[in-house]
Formats: sequence, C-alpha cells, structure tokens
Amino acid sequence: MKGIVFTVFVEYVEDTFGDVVAEQMISACDLATDGAYTSVGTYDHGEIIQMLVELGKISDRDLSDVVKDFGYHLFGKLVAGYPDVVQHVDDSFGLVATIDNHIHVEVRKLYPDADLPSFSHEFIGPDELHLLYESERGMADLAEGLLLGCFAHFREDVVLGREDLSEGAGMRVAFTMRRTAR
Ligand code: HEM
Repeated sequence: MKGIVFTVFVEYVEDTFGDVVAEQMISACDLATDGAYTSVGTYDHGEIIQMLVELGKISDRDLSDVVKDFGYHLFGKLVAGYPDVVQHVDDSFGLVATIDNHIHVEVRKLYPDADLPSFSHEFIGPDELHLLYESERGMADLAEGLLLGCFAHFREDVVLGREDLSEGAGMRVAFTMRRTAR
C-alpha cells in the first residue's frame, strides 16, 4: 500500500488520539520500519491493518468504525493532495462515478505499483447511484468512510446503504446512495 495512506494515518492518529496513543499503537505492532513511513514509499498492506486493529483496542471501538472514521478523514487529505485528479467534478456523484475510469487511473499513472480496488456504478436517477466495490484486500469499510467523506466535502446529504456480497469479507460490497439534499 502506498506510503501516502500510511503517513496520513499516523498523522491522523497523532492529531486525533494524541502522540501517546500513536506510540502505544506502533509499539504494539510488528512493523518493518517501526512506524517510520514516507509518502513516496510502498509498504505491506498488513501493517496498516495491524495498526487499525491496535487503535481499535486502545480506543475501545469497533474495528469497522475505526476504519470508516479514518476513511472519512483520508478523503479530505487525498483531495487536498491531488487537486488535479478531482478538478473535473462538481458534486459527490460526479466524483464517485469517475473513481474507476479517471481518479484511480490517474493514481496508477503516478504509482504504477498501486493496489487499487475496482468499482462499477449505475445511475438509477440523478439522485440515486449504485456502486459495486471489489478488492481482494477487503477494505469496504475504508471505501464507506471515503464515500462519507466525499458527501461531507460537497456538503450533500446522502443516505448510504451497504450490502456485503462476500459473506462479510468486505471484498465485494454493493453500495446504494440516495441524495436527499445538495
Ligand atoms: C469516494 C471516493 C473514493 C473511494 C470510495 C476510494 C476507495 C479506495 C479504497 C477502498 C482503497 C483501498 C485499496 C483497496 O480497497 O483495494 C483506495 C486506495 C487508494 N486510493 Fe482511492 N478512493 C476514492 C477516491 C480517491 C481519490 C480522490 C484519490 C486521489 C486523488 C484516491 C487515491 C487512492 C490511493 C493513492 C490509494 C492507495 C493505493 C495503494 O495503496 O496502492 N482515491 N481507494
């Protein structure tokens, strides 16, 4: 997984939970670099999972809530970090509908070794969108958090539904989005 996700994560933990929790989390994990990440590096995806699990334990929260909250935060950081990649859209559905054929395509140009999920979407109407997430990494909670961060970014009210089609593995998940205000 790309270093940008790791650096944003460690900074998020420091700022939200404090340096002590961040250090506690890092020292409880078996990390190749002892938690020293650079945004241009590439690291084992299992390391961020280990840290998320530890953060859940330390903060006494469900792992899926911890991952979703991080995804929500990550969305704002990605948009700020790669403004060119998202400049073509002016609402949340416009962004969501172009993750697979534009946004992540640009990400792959920047990082040819990126491990990206696959998405397919279908507009049911101007305010209803269905999205299918597929990834062997099973990070549907992260996808959900990113989607919620996206709706907040565009200041839209969207009711998000989710159905796991992979027996709870989070590897194949159908999201439904119904916009109620923008
Ligand atoms: C709501 C919009 C988005 C969703 C739902 C989404 C979803 C995801 C998910 C779930 C992953 C984790 C990998 C996996 O599941 O296999 C991922 C990775 C990534 N995404 Fe997106 N994404 C969104 C928007 C963006 C944007 C706007 C950018 C940057 C402009 C971006 C850049 C990346 C990068 C750099 C990675 C890491 C790839 C790696 O570690 O190798 N994403 N995305």
